Amino acid sequence: MRQALWFLLTIACTVVSAQIAWTPIFLDASSQVDLWTQSSTGCACPGDGGEDCACCVRDGACPCGDVTPTRCAQCGLEQYCSSMCNITIDSRILKNKSGKTFGQIKSPSIEGPGACSYFLQPDAGQRVEIQLYRLVSAGRFNGSSCVGGWLQLSGASAVRNVDGVAETRLCGENERYTPPVVLFADHGASTLDFRITEKTVRSQFLAFFSFTSLSNTQGMGFHPRGGSRIPHTDCDWLYQDVSCRGSGSCVLASPGYPGLYPPHRRCRYLFATNSVHTRVKIIFTSVLLPEDHCTSDYLTLRAGSSPSAPLLATICSEKSATLEYPGPNLLLEFNSGPLVPPYNYNGFIAKLEFLERLESSVPPPTIVAASPPLAALTHLTRHADRTAGMDNTVVTNEISHNKVNGRIGCGASVRSYGAGGVRSGHFDTRSTPWRSQCTIHLLGAPTDVVQVSLFNYNLRLQSCRSHIEILEGFHEFIGRGEKGNRSERGDRALLRVCGPSVREARDPSGRFLIRQAVTSKGANLTILVRRATSQSIDEEEFVDGAFAFHDEQHDGTVSPDATCATTHYGLAALRHGGVSAPSHHHIFWNIEERLLCTHLFMPAINQSVTIEIQRLDRMWSAEPPGTAPVGSMGCRTACGDAGCECRAATPLHYHDHIALVASDGTHLSCLCGDFQAAWLPVVVRSWTSVRLEYSVAHYTYASRGFDYAAAYSFNDDALCGQRTYTTHSGEISSRNVSVTGTLNEFFYQQCTWVLDSNVERQLFIDITSEQDKSCGSWNITLHEWSGIAAHNTGLAAAAGELLYTFCARHKNHTYTLPWRLNTVVIRLVALSRQQPLYMIRWRSQVVRANTRLGPPTPAPAAAATASQLENLSSEICLSVFVIQLLVRINVIVD
Ligand SMILES: *[C@@H]1O[C@H](CO)[C@@H](O)[C@H](O)[C@H]1NC(C)=O
Ligand SMILES: *[C@@H]1O[C@H](CO)[C@@H](O)[C@H](O)[C@H]1NC(C)=O
Ligand SMILES: *[C@@H]1O[C@H](CO)[C@@H](O)[C@H](O)[C@H]1NC(C)=O
Ligand SMILES: *[C@@H]1O[C@H](CO)[C@@H](O)[C@H](O)[C@H]1NC(C)=O
Ligand SMILES: *[C@@H]1O[C@H](CO)[C@@H](O)[C@H](O)[C@H]1NC(C)=O
Ligand SMILES: *[C@@H]1O[C@H](CO)[C@@H](O)[C@H](O)[C@H]1NC(C)=O
Ligand SMILES: *[C@@H]1O[C@H](CO)[C@@H](O)[C@H](O)[C@H]1NC(C)=O
Ligand SMILES: *[C@@H]1O[C@H](CO)[C@@H](O)[C@H](O)[C@H]1NC(C)=O
Ligand SMILES: *[C@@H]1O[C@H](CO)[C@@H](O)[C@H](O)[C@H]1NC(C)=O
Repeated sequence: MRQALWFLLTIACTVVSAQIAWTPIFLDASSQVDLWTQSSTGCACPGDGGEDCACCVRDGACPCGDVTPTRCAQCGLEQYCSSMCNITIDSRILKNKSGKTFGQIKSPSIEGPGACSYFLQPDAGQRVEIQLYRLVSAGRFNGSSCVGGWLQLSGASAVRNVDGVAETRLCGENERYTPPVVLFADHGASTLDFRITEKTVRSQFLAFFSFTSLSNTQGMGFHPRGGSRIPHTDCDWLYQDVSCRGSGSCVLASPGYPGLYPPHRRCRYLFATNSVHTRVKIIFTSVLLPEDHCTSDYLTLRAGSSPSAPLLATICSEKSATLEYPGPNLLLEFNSGPLVPPYNYNGFIAKLEFLERLESSVPPPTIVAASPPLAALTHLTRHADRTAGMDNTVVTNEISHNKVNGRIGCGASVRSYGAGGVRSGHFDTRSTPWRSQCTIHLLGAPTDVVQVSLFNYNLRLQSCRSHIEILEGFHEFIGRGEKGNRSERGDRALLRVCGPSVREARDPSGRFLIRQAVTSKGANLTILVRRATSQSIDEEEFVDGAFAFHDEQHDGTVSPDATCATTHYGLAALRHGGVSAPSHHHIFWNIEERLLCTHLFMPAINQSVTIEIQRLDRMWSAEPPGTAPVGSMGCRTACGDAGCECRAATPLHYHDHIALVASDGTHLSCLCGDFQAAWLPVVVRSWTSVRLEYSVAHYTYASRGFDYAAAYSFNDDALCGQRTYTTHSGEISSRNVSVTGTLNEFFYQQCTWVLDSNVERQLFIDITSEQDKSCGSWNITLHEWSGIAAHNTGLAAAAGELLYTFCARHKNHTYTLPWRLNTVVIRLVALSRQQPLYMIRWRSQVVRANTRLGPPTPAPAAAATASQLENLSSEICLSVFVIQLLVRINVIVD
């Protein structure tokens, strides 16, 4: 009777001490010999009928038998009465034999060095729990790890050890733990290893084990709710708003909670929202980290999915906390250092809620990526105001009756210009009531185009009876009809989505889907959502997304298929202007990866383009998957004679940067890292097209990437075109262009000249330069004519096999080209702080030819004309005039 009560008590009572919780197994029963033995004598011995054997606890205990007649053990483990070492404890067998899913492990006294291990096999729906009470002569803690011996709980598969994942190791010379040190193993079967590596006399430990049910209501069977494990990670989780509806439906905790967490872990919990208006509330119901170890054991929350995203808060010494921030992504990171005796901490547990945000008209987010050194963060820091509100859309006053809480819904007309005009924003048809028809008008200034990106929608009615249309132009709809012409409208639909159709911004793994976006050709755009009226309205149908107006006159022509790419033509109205980081962030809400925005500058014939980077924020580096934290491997800018270069150990797309790239992919200059503002401006003048690449390694809506400002101008200068000369002699010389005089000004030239003759000749080319420059800065090469028609590809493609290379250090060189090599391509390539200074002169010897054996000279695009032939200088034309007009028939005359 007394025993029954004893067990009843243990089951009913939850033991909690300073937030550490464990499954109750042992209550003080001073009259007992041990957990399973009531008294050492007084009961019948099995077999021989004597009365001097141990009396066992009635429930679950069995006598040890002849080996130790004065003691009892848990049924199923009685064969280990004398020595409990190197054994397997299987939950199902134990339950069958003793009716219990918990028990005691008492190691034999071992003489070090030595070892004992205990293999614990839980049933489905159970986790392994260990409570350590006593440790004798089991190594020491030297400040960072255990030496001389330890007790370790680890996952069953050896692979985990190979990974180098630090295991939970406890050590101590003579320790009694009250409360016990509690450990949970969350990966199925586990091994408890007791290992002494030095000489000892008597090493021992005493622990209780439990195969704790995951459905245990006291939290001992804690397992995360609502999240999903991120594959191939140690302990990373994804929590999405769609799976956390209702309070308490999402719960997360440190590994092994509510037991001691393993050392040297970094667990990341990504919180992802599908809606623009959703905020994330994290309620830390308990935080218990070792005292004074804030540099190694702490939690951080960041505004974005990347560990290099801006820091919002740090938690370490708090016992509880509540944080609330807008999405679309937040990253909570839990870091642990070495295990610290007396092992009286257990990490954290938190509830997660996703809230629909109601307030509006908050200022735009102005976060600048910031990664302060972690060592400096030893307390909870909140920067809530910096990210509060991700939606600053203001709709013009005239249509204020159609906005609810500042959101753009059905019936709204948004103007991009004038007082109250907005350049970008979000729309959501759920913010206003509607029955059958919903229109949103986006009205731009004459030079604007409109970009629209759809994030989420739900169209339920079959056969396109609900649908979305995005229409070019301004369309008014009255009732079910439209003023104007229906077939005209059909032609102008840029995008049409027919019901039934559902889109969520993210896939189940939390990644944003590929954007679904359109760009108008004109200044106006109409978004129309329609559904057949007869249907009941409680079936929620909606569309949300974002829009942006883009001024093509100032910001270049939009490339419709690219996320963020424009082209500036040298012949366009604006010969100079400025470019900067994109400001229309709303349409980038669902970008959570690298953001690449390009401006392509295309000088016309006889033009060059100058691009001057004038201002630049600090740039950051993202962490490539599966590598150590950043810092150690940022990106560095190095400027030399051949432009500025980005130097990084990892591929450049992991680093924020601005690059000026030539059409052949040559990086004319690249700036990254903590770029020294004193080196600005960086100027590149190019005679061929240049692409400015603005690359944010890890863009996130909350942090947006770095800022920069660059000016461009198209200059008229015919210095380095692509030209064909048909004269038999002539010269090409460099000309001075005006310079800005700044240190980092670079000239990029790729000039191609073709010397073409339709008579057979011997060509001599003199090249001279007085510049003292290396070959790498600039050089002139002479090539055979490749014969490739140059209409589309430009003359650059005409350069065939290389014949000679001239470098400035050659000073003066005359090249004698092979006889009858009538067409020669001269190329100048330069990338240097100084513009190349050179002079190229050529002359030909034309010999009387009364037989023509070779193939006809390939003629480049510009065929010689009679008038050009008149330019032949008579002193080198010995006696022959050849006239080759449009047809390839050689007529030789004296
Ligand atoms: C318990 O063990 C007995 C005999 O060892 C076996 O017959 C029985 O099926 C077992 N029960 C369970 C639930 O494993
Ligand atoms: C237990 O097993 C380990 C490893 O197999 C062995 O080194 C150790 O001696 C064993 N201990 C006992 C007491 O048999
Ligand atoms: C503690 O022991 C470990 C393992 O032997 C060793 O790497 C570390 O340097 C030691 N630390 C100190 C502070 O002695
Ligand atoms: C509608 O517009 C198209 C093209 O502008 C035109 O061909 C057609 O005749 C118009 N139909 C009506 C009914 O106005
Ligand atoms: C855009 O729509 C407005 C309002 O109807 C109209 O006044 C304007 O002319 C339109 N702009 C263009 C370029 O069609
Ligand atoms: C480019 O400049 C050259 C030399 O000044 C001139 O001969 C040529 O006609 C120009 N080409 C164009 C397209 O303006
Ligand atoms: C070009 O400019 C350089 C430096 O400004 C000057 O030394 C040189 O004389 C100039 N050459 C010509 C041909 O004007
Ligand atoms: C010629 O100059 C270009 C541009 O500066 C350079 O990239 C290339 O390596 C040079 N060629 C040689 C053979 O040095
Ligand atoms: C280059 O050399 C040639 C002969 O080798 C000479 O006629 C010419 O004057 C020289 N030019 C210069 C600029 O030195």
